[in-house]
Amino acid sequence: MKGLVLSGGKGTRLRPITYTSAKQLVPVANKPVLFRVIETIRDAGVEDIGIVIGSTGPEVRAAVGDGGRWGVRITYIEQDEPLGLAHAVKISRDFLGDDRFVMFLGDNCIQGGIAPLLQQFGTSDFNAQIVLKQVATPEQYGVAVLDERGQIVRLIEKPRQPPSDLALVGIYMFDASIWEAVEAIRPSWRGELEITDAIQWLVEHGRRVFPYIHHGWWIDTGKKDDMLEANRLILEEMPASVEGFVDRDSHLIGKVIVERGAEIINSTIRGPAIIGEQTRIINAYIGPFTSIYHHCVIESAEIEHSIVLEHCTIRDLPHRLEDSLIGRHVEVTRSPRKPKAYRLVLGDHSNVGVL
Ligand code: DAU
Repeated sequence: MKGLVLSGGKGTRLRPITYTSAKQLVPVANKPVLFRVIETIRDAGVEDIGIVIGSTGPEVRAAVGDGGRWGVRITYIEQDEPLGLAHAVKISRDFLGDDRFVMFLGDNCIQGGIAPLLQQFGTSDFNAQIVLKQVATPEQYGVAVLDERGQIVRLIEKPRQPPSDLALVGIYMFDASIWEAVEAIRPSWRGELEITDAIQWLVEHGRRVFPYIHHGWWIDTGKKDDMLEANRLILEEMPASVEGFVDRDSHLIGKVIVERGAEIINSTIRGPAIIGEQTRIINAYIGPFTSIYHHCVIESAEIEHSIVLEHCTIRDLPHRLEDSLIGRHVEVTRSPRKPKAYRLVLGDHSNVGVL
């Protein structure tokens, strides 16, 4: 079995972070979502993984490399334009051959592994298997309708009026019958070759497509709030560990991870929270569900329920920072100069809430 990870696409919903970087490389609990995807596939016993890359390809290549770090072999597949998930499959034909494969969207986070799922598919005669999850907002996803026996009747991509609340999770398993399907379908109203339509084609043409209902959590991390939610869920499952330095005036409460080279000085950290390598927390409060990535300085400030990317400085804030996603090399500081005013340099599509 081979693995195919989709890491191209536009990432418009995470702007401005994604103006300069791949959305799949934004860290959740201090690890890029894409790395979590690779580990999930590897843990299911798949070592040959293709990654579809687009305009952010160089950054993905630099971060992932040849996969040796995870004990897997990575092959990069370049997609000139994000023409849809089925298009991404189509251009991966040379890599996949006629093998059975698992496709995993590079921005999806799922609780638990996929090992039992892959084992079941690997030894079955199913042509395809999809993963479904009950959600509150099915109109944002591909949606499946099942009959009373649990067989798939119909699949629709982002329907305005969803006929069911079962969303397609971004994990799919296929055999070689997918090739005929991706050739047969035409672009959707949004101009993309939809994998949902290709699976619908398989169903209509009598192929054996089986649904698996996932009961743990699943997050498509395409938007800020989903990112924060994935961060919360993953942090809750991580065990506490302190590899950095914590001085005697500091308090770590609950599950706190202090990574190598981090320093906590005269501060309180209430877990679940993670402090990245070489980051310094000084006279500060870090609240639950917060991930501070590497090489940051947080001084005389309070942060809660947030993700802060690498090389940020956050200093002397009069109020607590909450529900925030802060990009790389960002500086948030007090500006004591007169006249009293907010002084900002914000990228396009930034979003700031002032007091
Ligand atoms: O997350 C689950 C949902 O993913 C499913 O419920 C939908 O049926 C499915 O169409 C997909 O919807 P999204 O609108 O969330 O897909 P998105 O455009 O975010 O792309 C998913 C991943 O695939 C993302 O990591 C980018 C990558 N991608 C996307 C396109 C369109 C590519 O590599 N190439 C592409 O052409």
